[in-house]
Amino acid sequence: MKIIGFSTGGVGHLGNTDRMVQAILDQSGYDSEFVKLTDLAFTGCKGCVDLCATPQVCLLDDEAGPYYQKMKDADAVVLGCAVYGGSVNAITLSFLERFYGYRHVDLAIKGKPFVLAVCGFRNIENAVEQVQNILKRQGINVLDLVQYLSSSPPCLFCGRHQECSIGGLYRMIGGKAHTLTVTPDMFHKWEDNFITVEAVEAASQKLKEHLGAVQVR
Ligand SMILES: Cc1cc2nc3c(=O)[nH]c(=O)nc-3n(C[C@H](O)[C@H](O)[C@H](O)COP(=O)(O)O)c2cc1C
Repeated sequence: MKIIGFSTGGVGHLGNTDRMVQAILDQSGYDSEFVKLTDLAFTGCKGCVDLCATPQVCLLDDEAGPYYQKMKDADAVVLGCAVYGGSVNAITLSFLERFYGYRHVDLAIKGKPFVLAVCGFRNIENAVEQVQNILKRQGINVLDLVQYLSSSPPCLFCGRHQECSIGGLYRMIGGKAHTLTVTPDMFHKWEDNFITVEAVEAASQKLKEHLGAVQVR
């Protein structure tokens, strides 16, 4: 049994999205591979539908390319999505768009168990709905969804929050953003939020039980 986990968390650090995917993989107890999609050079679907129609897997030759077959072969998938501008980020959308390869004549990954992890700082409802709808079109079996709101907008590390009256931090705290000194404790981690910790444990457990039941059959 093998699980593959993908994350579209922010570049240059092991962020909340990455660590959440890794925790779910680790806690499941199965063999797993973690892939940070953010670090790969790849595009969305290019419309070469004659290529993917017969093998029913995306054959675009870029750094994400090998993972479409790996995903098809995996027993389960953990997908961690970061939310940008009220939507799942474009890295997630590009990755998911190429699931089109699985959808010819029949649904090649129908019933594949997925655990979804969606992370943002405050507005993620639309993104959650968006990604769920995309997965539904593939007949994917979403076993569980873990959501985390950090309350830590990207403005905390952009370096210009004191000049800014349009960003997430300003929208959260208004003019106080202009005098705010950023301190390490403002970067919240899901591991410090016990509701999220429990949700991660529950999702891992569901994954474990699901794969255990499949193994026995
Ligand atoms: C360009 C950008 C736009 C963002 N927009 C939103 C947003 O609209 N709503 C939200 O809840 N979080 C938003 N965020 C916060 C990210 O969702 C957050 O950074 C994400 O959880 C990834 O964190 P991580 O890198 O620690 O995994 C945004 C972050 C960036 C970099």
